[in-house]
Amino acid sequence: MTETQYLIIGSGVAGLSLAIKLAGEFPERTVTIVTKSHVSESNTKYAQGGVAAVFNAEVDSFKEHIHDTLVAGDGLCDTAVVARVIEEGPKRLRELMDWGVRFDTDPQGNFALGKEGGHSASRVLHHKDTTGSEIERALLDRVRRFENIRILAHHFAIDLITHAPLPGSQRDTTQCYGAYVLDEKTGEIITVKANSVTLATGGVGKVYGHTTNPAVATGDGIAMAYRAKACIRDMEFIQFHPTALYEGHDGASFLISEAVRGFGAYLRNSKGERFMRYYDDREELASRDIVARAIDSEIKASKVPYVYLDCTHLDIEAFRHEFPNIYKACGHKQIAIWKDWIPVVPAAHYVCGGIVVDRWGRTSVRNLFACGENSRTGLHGANRLASNSLLEAVVYAHRIYSYHCKHTIEPSTVALPGFQMEKGPLLKGKLLQKTTEKLQQLMRTQVGIVRSTSQLEKAKEDLAQIHEITETLYRDHSLHTALCELRNMVTVAHLIITHSLERTVNKGGYFNIDYSESNKTKKHV
Ligand code: FAD
Ligand code: SIN
Repeated sequence: MTETQYLIIGSGVAGLSLAIKLAGEFPERTVTIVTKSHVSESNTKYAQGGVAAVFNAEVDSFKEHIHDTLVAGDGLCDTAVVARVIEEGPKRLRELMDWGVRFDTDPQGNFALGKEGGHSASRVLHHKDTTGSEIERALLDRVRRFENIRILAHHFAIDLITHAPLPGSQRDTTQCYGAYVLDEKTGEIITVKANSVTLATGGVGKVYGHTTNPAVATGDGIAMAYRAKACIRDMEFIQFHPTALYEGHDGASFLISEAVRGFGAYLRNSKGERFMRYYDDREELASRDIVARAIDSEIKASKVPYVYLDCTHLDIEAFRHEFPNIYKACGHKQIAIWKDWIPVVPAAHYVCGGIVVDRWGRTSVRNLFACGENSRTGLHGANRLASNSLLEAVVYAHRIYSYHCKHTIEPSTVALPGFQMEKGPLLKGKLLQKTTEKLQQLMRTQVGIVRSTSQLEKAKEDLAQIHEITETLYRDHSLHTALCELRNMVTVAHLIITHSLERTVNKGGYFNIDYSESNKTKKHV
């Protein structure tokens, strides 16, 4: 067993910002970061567009950023949370800059602010088109300066250690005491005891296979919290990014940032038509849910599995300067963007729902916090406004830190049991991969951008079979990361399907054809 004051699971922007704050404030206490892959591997590392915040008061205001966020969220945002995050945002971004994050500036030294879908003003701070890797680099540099931060890379958090209140106890909620963690290199399962635990495990994109997310995005934190009986909400609101590069396969795909449309690129269908004018007055810069559904509808009508992003009319030198990574990635695929249109297709990108947290990042389980993409703060409602998630993560990391400054969580005296599991044989053969692919196909075909009640019912039935196979594999074999991830993805799929079936009105990123009178894209016939 190992003990720490603060256990943070995940090393993206959420986990690292929190670790820096706690370690700086409490030099005598230890912060342990558990992360399942290389320490920098995360959704954060691949963020392109940037971080939305109000930095130019001449053309922008908190009021407008709040308004845009509420419009994108389609009536389901928590307005107090929206105001809090947006008004606190600039302060937190200054802090990131103090920690070494470099955002681009114009020749006059002002921030070069990008524009993205759903935003009424240019307000996205960025570092070229590799904002996330710049943030991850700076945060990791900072983290490494603290002797009281311990990073356990290639360590997979399997489950939280919790205890329900005993009958007659004064406590009325389940309490978290730490987590069971698999050392991926030795196979040892370690009991990590902690005063407070924060889940910062990121997104769920891999559940769909075809995603902009890296392979680590398997929804582990949400699944662990669900098993610990924490409250989970809004999982039906999966955001599909409209413009992943079409690569003709169902795996992870390179993103073509929305900022490219903010820079002036056009969407065209297979006939070369600029179709977005049929769907929304904001055309290419409508919010993501609307653009993704419009593309989905064009693809289905044409039977061509992609549409195009046309950059040929743009100032290519300026494009290359703004988006060097995208320019290079297209070049590697033999797409010469000054003359070729880029084939693009929507892909699973972001989960708007997750583990419910209050204003201090507290979950419904005592001493368990959640931060970043795996949390559901109320900021995004039914659809996240572009570039609001990095913002949310840094604001809530600060709030969790503030809570810990005001409240000392005493170490528990409870003796924790070791991880209980019969050691079975290591799973061999292709069954694990096949079951994962079956799950992903189910999610793509039956729980995608456009859903129907009958498809969702069928998905529920099919998932029950996959669940049974997975539970048997889990019970009978030695644990390893891919097996635990499959189990977690099945749980996440279950949450997305059941929450979808509970929703009877279309909102934001959720669209069921059986409720199509509220179809926001019905202009196109
Ligand atoms: P992550 O950065 O995903 O970090 C999660 C961490 O948890 C990882 O280190 C992972 O390995 C670890 N982990 C997961 N499960 C376990 C486990 N069981 N045990 C141990 N460790 C575990 N948002 C914006 O605001 N602006 C953008 O421009 C933007 N662009 C994006 C572009 C792409 C291609 C993608 C994929 C996302 C983008 N997003 C953007 C979304 C944003 O990047 C994420 O929402 C945000 O980075 C999430 O940060 P996080 O710290 O919550 O999670
Ligand atoms: C992008 O650059 O298009 C992604 C922005 C985001 O997901 O917020």
